[in-house]
Amino acid sequence: MKHIGLVGAGVIGGSWALVFARAGLDVSVYDPAPGAAAKARDFVRSAIADLAAQGLAPKEPLDAVVARVTPAARLEDVLATADYVQESAPERVEVKRELYAKLDALARPATILASSTSGLPASAFTQGLAGARRCLVAHPINPPHLIPLVEIIPSPWTDAEVVARATGLMRQVGQSPIRLNREINGFVVNRLQSALLAEAFRLVEDGVVDVDGVDRAVSDGLGLRWSFMGPFRTIDLNAPTGVAEYCRNLGPMYHELAKEQADPRLWGEALVRGVERQLRDLNPSMTIAEQQAWRDRRLAMLVHLKKDGALAQ
Ligand SMILES: NC(=O)c1ccc[n+]([C@@H]2O[C@H](COP(=O)([O-])OP(=O)(O)OC[C@H]3O[C@@H](n4cnc5c(N)ncnc54)[C@H](O)[C@@H]3O)[C@@H](O)[C@H]2O)c1
Repeated sequence: MKHIGLVGAGVIGGSWALVFARAGLDVSVYDPAPGAAAKARDFVRSAIADLAAQGLAPKEPLDAVVARVTPAARLEDVLATADYVQESAPERVEVKRELYAKLDALARPATILASSTSGLPASAFTQGLAGARRCLVAHPINPPHLIPLVEIIPSPWTDAEVVARATGLMRQVGQSPIRLNREINGFVVNRLQSALLAEAFRLVEDGVVDVDGVDRAVSDGLGLRWSFMGPFRTIDLNAPTGVAEYCRNLGPMYHELAKEQADPRLWGEALVRGVERQLRDLNPSMTIAEQQAWRDRRLAMLVHLKKDGALAQ
């Protein structure tokens, strides 16, 4: 696949433009909002400059990468050449439904139509389309130019060959795809995050620990390992003979904890306000935007360590 079409050029679309362009692919960008597609190209330029400031610049000159990103005035212009479309339009099922009818009518027969949706199954907006078999979800984590994971989720009618080609493309451009065997609410990443957040709010609400304590339990504890191996490999390495011994020893304890945790709670307004107050007090001198920039700089360093630096396997 050589030509990528991006449909929707907001936060996620702009970051996708960088992912594909730095991997050497031609990227056409369509967004109905005036100036949005051009902004995606501007984003590619400024994000590469940020990466370069940390020694993470792509190997070729900045202008060569930026030149591969072409804003398009019409959806038709993008679909005329695209081998693969990454759709990143607003997260509303009626918007996606209408858009996919257009994409399917305009795209060439072999073109893959992939959605960045955070939570809608492809079956909710592709059912009945003539080309429903070429549609699927390729869900990134924001921002995909720094976080490589992509969840590939076929609908019940997506062709296996389309799943394989989309997965191959993600690998080719340096992302880390995982394939789900079926559609499920929250996909995998948000289901895992949901379990952790439910417990984090519960611990704070019940007065067991404060917000900083929960955050440091992850950033100075569990999360150190999680940046290079997941929970299964973690427990496999936490007993002399591996996962079976770990589960024999600690399985009953986790079963008891799971019973205590089987208590879904809404995050009430007072609880959320309390968490917010603690977070603001912890970082009184930085705006959210400054903290986001701080986060992205650290993410870039970590990704570099994992890909090319001391932590690379
Ligand atoms: N922001 C995140 O953290 C994040 C993470 C993963 C996935 N996603 C998913 O990515 C998608 C886009 O999210 P975002 O955060 O970039 O939103 P955004 O609001 O930043 O961007 C959406 C863009 O879509 C454009 N748009 C509106 N109608 C359109 C149409 N009919 N066709 C094409 N483009 C249209 C808008 O002009 C806007 O530029 C959503 O499905 C979202 O769930 C977002």
